[in-house]
Amino acid sequence: MPFDPFADFSMEGHVALITGGAQNIGEAIARTFAGAGAKVLIADLNGDKAIETAKRIEQETGSQVLGMKCDVTQGDDIKACVDQIVRRFGALSTLVNNVGWGQANPDPVAVSDGDMIASYTLNTLSALRMVEAATPYLRQAKNASITNSGSMVGLLPAFDFLAYSAAKAALNHMMLGLAHAFAKSVRINTVVIGTVLTEGYAAAGLDAKTQERLTNPDNLTGRSGTSQDVANAFLWLASPAGAWVSGQTIQVAGGPKRVRLIPEY
Ligand SMILES: NC(=O)c1ccc[n+]([C@@H]2O[C@H](COP(=O)([O-])OP(=O)(O)OC[C@H]3O[C@@H](n4cnc5c(N)ncnc54)[C@H](O)[C@@H]3O)[C@@H](O)[C@H]2O)c1
Repeated sequence: MPFDPFADFSMEGHVALITGGAQNIGEAIARTFAGAGAKVLIADLNGDKAIETAKRIEQETGSQVLGMKCDVTQGDDIKACVDQIVRRFGALSTLVNNVGWGQANPDPVAVSDGDMIASYTLNTLSALRMVEAATPYLRQAKNASITNSGSMVGLLPAFDFLAYSAAKAALNHMMLGLAHAFAKSVRINTVVIGTVLTEGYAAAGLDAKTQERLTNPDNLTGRSGTSQDVANAFLWLASPAGAWVSGQTIQVAGGPKRVRLIPEY
């Protein structure tokens, strides 16, 4: 048999729960995992779209894919979707905490308590509660992993996106702590995502100049990303190909610049 370099990227035997998988980045992760042989549950606030997306991916890949409504900020919903995946597929080996988003806060010091708490609840706390519910099953699985959708603003804060930046920074830190707590049983990594131009940007309240800058980003690859660019990294980290990688924040962001020429060009 010739050597198959892709064998370690197979997700055969894996059962993956993907939050926020009804569209965009989460959908691409679900499709990629299912295409690699995993059984997948898409848990999304938009239950109808989750079911629709799951059916489409099932047809495209031939793997079993379910969709269901789940609000990851609600404990009962989290428990229901973990119960559902274990009941339907008999295991849970792979958790993807993909849900998250934020609104622009043009005046950073005027961000309300409510906005800070809401951002933390959606982007950070929901992931912790999901980990809590999934842990008993993850600990029993082979090549168990948790991979999170982080953001570049969690490394370099955007002051006009303060609530989101702070919550994504907290996600990185929290997951690093959990990776150490779960050492030798569950690998935990966070993909630090750059700009993937989804419809969410139009709704985020950004001005035209910022939208233009995001469309033509000043990074080493010279383009914004696609959902598939990001999903490919999730496949590496969740599959046996990533079996020696844990406790990392991996930037998939087109090569953000870290060196400045003087004068700037
Ligand atoms: N798009 C980007 O450029 C970008 C950049 C950096 C990081 N990220 C991160 O990547 C992840 C996915 O981004 P996206 O652009 O695909 O987002 P998106 O808004 O297109 O999709 C998010 C999905 O999550 C679902 N959702 C929202 N709130 C939910 C809740 N409470 N419970 C369950 N589901 C919920 C939505 O219905 C939607 O289907 C997010 O964590 C985001 O912060 C995205």
